[in-house]
Amino acid sequence: MKKYFVIGNPINHSLSPKLHNYWLKENNIDAIYDKRRIEEKDLENIISEVKEKKTNGINITVPFKKAVIPYLDKLSPEAEQTQSVNTIILSNDNLVGHNTDIFGFDKAIKNLNFNMKDKRIFILGAGGVVPSIIFALNKMNVSQIIISNRTKKKAEELKLLFNNLEILDWGNIIDFDVIINATSLGLNKESINLDFSKYGNNKLFYDVIYNPVETNFLKEGKKLGNKTENGKLMFVYQAFEAFKLWHKIEPSTNDKTLEILRND
Ligand code: ATR
Repeated sequence: MKKYFVIGNPINHSLSPKLHNYWLKENNIDAIYDKRRIEEKDLENIISEVKEKKTNGINITVPFKKAVIPYLDKLSPEAEQTQSVNTIILSNDNLVGHNTDIFGFDKAIKNLNFNMKDKRIFILGAGGVVPSIIFALNKMNVSQIIISNRTKKKAEELKLLFNNLEILDWGNIIDFDVIINATSLGLNKESINLDFSKYGNNKLFYDVIYNPVETNFLKEGKKLGNKTENGKLMFVYQAFEAFKLWHKIEPSTNDKTLEILRND
């Protein structure tokens, strides 16, 4: 039986095992997908299990998407540019790091039928998934990307990877067409202390969080007359792409698949 898992810390709330195990069963693949909470010092050992073929693939979530890189032999161009790896696969005896978060965000936006071209994007937060979002946005030919993070240094580090970024001090707001919450504010019913009503309606409010289904940020965006979307499809499509890399099969992404992730 093949073995896969997701590593992170915390990891309790990860829905990756539920989704991957559903897809494994659906495709009659003899494999199991589990989750492991680890410390940074465990990374080298865990990744070497893939090289030794004791494990067949690993997903990585926060806060290790960058920390795994020194233990890999190769990176995909996307993982290289974002310095962010969420999927590891053994290919010709090389440990290869991929980034499927980019695909996830891109598919989620395409699914919305929202044209990002020439739009002004305001990103809140600079955590694990933000480099992937910026990479995808640059491909969509947006006009401007402004980022604001409580810890300004992290935004500045991102600017080293993407020199078109503009940085705004945390607590300030700027006119935007699309606003993306990539902070963890909202996971526990927190609100974001910004006045979103200043710049009119018909914008897109996107939250990376999908549990709860509607954060206060999305509730407020909706109330102000904007389009809103949570991070569920991004999550599903990053998993879809990882599954495809490992098993060479495209798993289902229909209503039944999405139903698997409800009420968690
Ligand atoms: P990580 O930072 O380990 O990659 P993450 O969940 O991907 O984890 O990111 C958390 C994001 O939420 C960060 O941008 C964080 O800001 P800091 O870089 O300043 O830590 C942001 N965040 C978390 N709690 C916050 C709060 N109370 N106010 C503002 N931003 C917050």
